[in-house]
Amino acid sequence: MQFQKTKHAAASLFAFLFVLSGAVQAQQAKLPNVTILATGGTIAGTGATSTTTVGYTAATVGVQALIQAVPEITRVANVSGEQVFQIASENMSNEHWLTLAKRINVLLGQANVDGIVITHGTDTLEETAYFLNLVVKSKKPVVLVGSMRPSTALSADGPINLYNAVQLAGSQEAVGRGVLVAMNDQINGARDVTKSNTTTTDTFKASELGMLGYIQGGKPYFYRTATRRHTVETEFDVMNLSVLPQVEVAYAHANVGPVAIDALVASGARGLVHAGVGNGSLPAKVRPALSAARKKGVIIVRSARVGQGIVARNGEANDDELDFVAGDNLSPQKARILLMLALTKTSSTKEIQRMFSTY
Ligand code: DGL
Repeated sequence: MQFQKTKHAAASLFAFLFVLSGAVQAQQAKLPNVTILATGGTIAGTGATSTTTVGYTAATVGVQALIQAVPEITRVANVSGEQVFQIASENMSNEHWLTLAKRINVLLGQANVDGIVITHGTDTLEETAYFLNLVVKSKKPVVLVGSMRPSTALSADGPINLYNAVQLAGSQEAVGRGVLVAMNDQINGARDVTKSNTTTTDTFKASELGMLGYIQGGKPYFYRTATRRHTVETEFDVMNLSVLPQVEVAYAHANVGPVAIDALVASGARGLVHAGVGNGSLPAKVRPALSAARKKGVIIVRSARVGQGIVARNGEANDDELDFVAGDNLSPQKARILLMLALTKTSSTKEIQRMFSTY
């Protein structure tokens, strides 16, 4: 009799577990599949104490630990993690970008990947985002996320930023919107966002053009969309490239001379972005150096250090006569990225000017 009761109880328990596992599998089947590609940064950083919010070590925590630190993520997505590299983002290089872009395009070509989150240092996060915005060949969401406080800090912003980024990357709302940046409960577009403060958690802003939306209660709310071409609409493809053209930035200021420009050209730069004062003005001492560089075949883009506004073609310099390119409203660091990709396609200044008006 006792054996029969035990046998019946075991059968009932087995049946319950079988049904439960089926229910869990059914629930998981409904969740999006999101891959987290970890590259380092503060979000993976650790400090000596809980109040260490500067002077910590970036890029020390691995991707699996990042995921395990936010178990809530597994309720909203089927998450897998890859440690692509583990660096502080001031050390991001063209080679890192090519590795990352190629991995993303391979993953997004898989039916079992619905979106990608990239954990990244904030120092060059905006640059990686813009580079990927031009070379990712999928409409699936790609979301960059970082943090301004290390994982060990009081009120660390990394965990909630990561949770929000995974939600956004798994959402239908984010499909087809280009590469996005999810920080501080806000959604920004890759082209216009920049790190605007050295240490505060609200640092990522597109100050004049504005953010695209919010993430609230785990749900994305979009109010704007990117207007310049991106991802599947661009003419750039890096899948068969192993190196990117050398493009440098020369910063202008009062009393500036041609030394930096001459040195950058001598180092082999194929393109040079001039971060001019005001509306991309060319100080008299550097104009001859830029003109000589152009005559050697270096492509010159007139950008501006001021942060907002359009550098007008033929405004502060006669671009037609100098055969220079006007950098539109891109920051110098983003103009470098577009010029680098443009040089993989053409050395025609007319074509490159078209690209600056398109992307
Ligand atoms: N070393 C900086 C970086 O990796 C830390 C800044 C951060 O990630 O917030 O970009």
